[in-house]
Amino acid sequence: MTPEIKAFFHQPSSTLCYVVTCPESRKCAVIDPVLDFDIYSGEIDTAFATTIIDYIQEEALQLEWLLETHAHADHVTAASYLKKRLGGKIACGSEITSIQETFKSVFNLKDLNTDGGQFDRLLSDGETLELGHCSIKVLATPGHTPDSLTYVIGNNAFIGDTLFMPDSGSARCDFPRGSAAQLYQSIQKIYRLGNDITLYMCHDYQPNQRALRYACPVSEQREMNIHIADGVSEQEYVTTRQQRDTGLAIPRLLYPALQFNIIAGQLPAAEDNNQHYLKLPLAGISKLG
Ligand SMILES: [Fe+2]
Repeated sequence: MTPEIKAFFHQPSSTLCYVVTCPESRKCAVIDPVLDFDIYSGEIDTAFATTIIDYIQEEALQLEWLLETHAHADHVTAASYLKKRLGGKIACGSEITSIQETFKSVFNLKDLNTDGGQFDRLLSDGETLELGHCSIKVLATPGHTPDSLTYVIGNNAFIGDTLFMPDSGSARCDFPRGSAAQLYQSIQKIYRLGNDITLYMCHDYQPNQRALRYACPVSEQREMNIHIADGVSEQEYVTTRQQRDTGLAIPRLLYPALQFNIIAGQLPAAEDNNQHYLKLPLAGISKLG
């Protein structure tokens, strides 16, 4: 069964969110939904998520799955909000538990459960989910993060942060438990899906102001990707990737995003004044003497 695919572009984080629909049953999955968040005011907004809700309602779709390709460090997930509004089950990679462990320590979140129980389903390599008459095959594609997954639906693969469009290369590997060598192997796994499979990116940063592009066949990546085309060895790739990662800034929303995203986009618990807060671990304290 060939699924219908609708892309939504969240400009502030350059993220692509996809609604994938089984044309017969009208059941759909949403991949990587975004909640708007303003770092300066702390204000959450549902404007972008509402465009997805409107589409699902106008098309009379039934939301089955809210799928995360990984724990994002650059935007807040709208998965819990969409579930509250439309139902569906939130799923992510089973390695989310190791990310929860890492950030439980970073943020000193004493009450955080690190068994992944905030998600409805934890997925491992090789599993299959039903989406009406379409099936969703789960591939573990770690490297950018340990929990990274690719979702294969028909001849389409939603690859999260592994590759970007060929002119932008590949995703960074310098987050906790990231690995350029692992990402190399994950990308080879994606290439082995076959040249005719269409890959859907999680981000497009539109280099040199080019028009938005978010999908291309495996063959185009193998020919043209500036980091990892055919013929690039694992060692060459790891060297390029590590050099590039040393020059990258911390994502603007890293600390806020992870505090939401490791608990499936729920609100961090309110304090006794009923106000919700985020934490920011301070660094450089020793400079104060
Ligand atoms: Fe990411």
